[in-house]
Amino acid sequence: MTSLKGTRVTWLGHATVLVQTAKGTNILIDPFIEQNPKYPKGFKLPEKIHYILLTHGHSDHISDAVPVAKKHKSTVVAMYELSAFVGKQGVKDTVGMNLGGTVQLEDVAVTMVDAKHSSGAQDDDGTHYVGVAAGYILAVSGGPVLYHAGDTAVFGDMKLIQELYRPELAMLPIGGHFTMGPKEAAVATKLLGAYTVLPLHFGTFPQLTGTPEQLAALVDANVKVVRIEPGESI
Ligand code: NI
Ligand code: MN
Repeated sequence: MTSLKGTRVTWLGHATVLVQTAKGTNILIDPFIEQNPKYPKGFKLPEKIHYILLTHGHSDHISDAVPVAKKHKSTVVAMYELSAFVGKQGVKDTVGMNLGGTVQLEDVAVTMVDAKHSSGAQDDDGTHYVGVAAGYILAVSGGPVLYHAGDTAVFGDMKLIQELYRPELAMLPIGGHFTMGPKEAAVATKLLGAYTVLPLHFGTFPQLTGTPEQLAALVDANVKVVRIEPGESI
């Protein structure tokens, strides 16, 4: 298992991930809780969630952003237009950013990187333009470099992500249908040069048929595909 140097990464089912640094910064990525069939029942979030990162506007990634931000006094970080959308829905503190940019969140440098996916946000008035889909690099000061890909297809510029950031842990969607599946995720792993992969976005709904076992059979022998249950941590 990879050493995350005191940083704890907890998978909460689907693409929802809680990152807690050794210095005590709590970051929740893509909160999908109430409607998430794989959310660990009874899991208690830390009292303070300092930041919520959103990869794109689809409801399986943002549906609990507003309630969690209100309850845990979080700042929501997202693509510029998506940050404005959640701001309109009542989130007080937002940081709008865009692809290629980095923001320093306490001890974590967060860079927004490419993803190949759509990004509309729906409410009672229909679907709203909230910018394009993204992924995030989280470079923890004195700790690891993490990559959360959001929803995406594999793309050649993952090579640039390797060159620029060298992520130690890659959190990749593998379910297929709406994102890449295991075959593509194996190529993504190679492009990223990551030695540890935490599979996301599989098994939540019937269409998401890709499995960690399928990915593990396709990656190089020195790559570890993490098998944990929702609610468990690396
Ligand atoms: Ni999506
Ligand atoms: Mn999704």
